[in-house]
Amino acid sequence: MHEISNPLTGIIGLSQLILECTDVPDGIRADISGINREANRATSILKDFLIFARGQKPDMRKADINVAIQGVLKLRRSYMRKSGIRVYTNLAQDLPSLMMDVAQIQQVFLNIILNAEYFMIDAHKGGTLTVFTSLHKNIVRSIFKDDGPGIPARILPNIFDPFFTTKEPGKGTGLGLSISYGIISEHNGNIYAESMPGQGATFIVELPVPPE
Ligand SMILES: Nc1ncnc2c1ncn2[C@@H]1O[C@H](COP(=O)(O)OP(=O)(O)O)[C@@H](O)[C@H]1O
Ligand SMILES: [Mg+2]
Repeated sequence: MHEISNPLTGIIGLSQLILECTDVPDGIRADISGINREANRATSILKDFLIFARGQKPDMRKADINVAIQGVLKLRRSYMRKSGIRVYTNLAQDLPSLMMDVAQIQQVFLNIILNAEYFMIDAHKGGTLTVFTSLHKNIVRSIFKDDGPGIPARILPNIFDPFFTTKEPGKGTGLGLSISYGIISEHNGNIYAESMPGQGATFIVELPVPPE
């Protein structure tokens, strides 16, 4: 992969140097800054792809799922407030600790939230995200419900496929949910989506409660 990342690093670095010169004509500056932006985007796609291809083994530790969720929500709080997205949480108290790779589980929640943000803003410039957790015998369920456009029934079976995206060109890689699926499978859990047309999308992540 260095075969791709080294040239990208070169493009980013050299275009940055040109942008730092004061005597670049405005028209050229705009083009160079486009080159720089696109090379940065290619780098971030490459990173996603590497995570996807590597399928890292999770580093399992006892952790509190509510704390993991709150950590991710905190990261997005100011952006969501600015974008007109309200967040409601209803996190069950006294949930048992789960065995998880917190960084990977947070990556899953982050992707679900980023998708919800994107589609709610795209459809009606804001909305409501509701997050629940609950305990059902030996699984803990985390639910993320948005009031965006929802997911058409005909594409619902495809959303976890690698490279499947309906975001506008340049906005999505289609890797988020497939990576998420891999991570949750490694945790012996389940991830799925439900959607009624026009009534938003709901993502459900189920993780097992470890035996005593
Ligand atoms: N909250 C949501 N509302 C509507 N569609 C969604 C939502 N979350 C995911 N999707 C659908 O699933 C697709 C795949 O998502 P993902 O794998 O995260 O890739 P990406 O974010 O790059 O599009 C999205 O492009 C969209 O079609
Ligand atoms: Mg995504």
